[in-house]
Amino acid sequence: MFARSLLVLSLSAGAALAQQASLSQVAEGLASTRAQLNGAGLVPNPISEQLLNLTAVLSLQFGSSGSPVAIGTSQSVSDVTQAPSYRLEFAPESASALSGKTFTVAFLDAGAAGVGNPDGLLTRHFLGNNFNLGSDGILSNSTPAITEYASPAPAPGSGPHRYFQVVFLQGDDFRAPSNLSQPGTPLSTMSLAGYAQEANLRQIVAASYVSIEDNSASVTDSISSTQAPASSSVAALATSISRSLAGGSATSGGSSSSTRSGSSGAPSGTSAAGGSNGAVKLGAGAGLLAVLGAAAVLL
Ligand SMILES: *[C@@H]1O[C@H](CO)[C@@H](O)[C@H](O)[C@H]1NC(C)=O
Ligand SMILES: *[C@@H]1O[C@H](CO)[C@@H](O)[C@H](O)[C@H]1NC(C)=O
Repeated sequence: MFARSLLVLSLSAGAALAQQASLSQVAEGLASTRAQLNGAGLVPNPISEQLLNLTAVLSLQFGSSGSPVAIGTSQSVSDVTQAPSYRLEFAPESASALSGKTFTVAFLDAGAAGVGNPDGLLTRHFLGNNFNLGSDGILSNSTPAITEYASPAPAPGSGPHRYFQVVFLQGDDFRAPSNLSQPGTPLSTMSLAGYAQEANLRQIVAASYVSIEDNSASVTDSISSTQAPASSSVAALATSISRSLAGGSATSGGSSSSTRSGSSGAPSGTSAAGGSNGAVKLGAGAGLLAVLGAAAVLL
């Protein structure tokens, strides 16, 4: 819910600054992602701080006729029966870090906050390696999935499960662990930290999560609530992310290559004001102005 209002703000801020929506929109999306992951108790366990290098906003869409789901929203079991598509949305400044790379995608159940994964074990609902990034920002699997999508079916009365998705950048030294290297490996539990270490995966560049509950029985465990992020801290975070995304390209000499943003769709399903092909590269100042504009409205 918060992510959506943040995006609306970012779009209006972007409208005032013409083509310059992209960097600020991505920065706000990343700040919101980060705040949602923290609020859901997914960081630092099972997603360790060390692994997070959020660079793209991850947008999930279940089935071909659905619409993108916003991070942190509640979904029903029937909404998620079809495998999702994974789309990355990123600023032109990040194109070189992501284009032409390969990725590992995992969809994992961390259980309900406070009662899930006490031993660090997550239920693996999907795992695939060697995803490629399309020009539309969609990730597609160039090799058969290790674990094919097994749609969420949380036990009745076990509370709202946090189903999270992570996209790892695969380096040249990526190596699938022997027990998770064969297509058709069925759903089972795994440790994210253990997998990342064994596979030489060091950077999660995009992440999201949805909450799914079967409330046909009453909850018996004591479940912690997930917390809505404070808007002021998200805005401050967006500012620093925007600065670092813009700063990353400043070292490239400031020449504007014809990079493209990952997609034209915002995660909430609204259409993006900027972010189309050949998006104009932003200076840090313009991005910060947009972020500060949004922050002012929030406060
Ligand atoms: C995080 O990603 C950026 C590219 O977006 C890269 O320049 C930076 O080195 C990465 N940080 C780490 C710690 O790997
Ligand atoms: C794979 O083996 C490692 C030990 O090398 C173990 O920690 C992990 O739990 C195993 N994963 C699965 C999915 O069986």
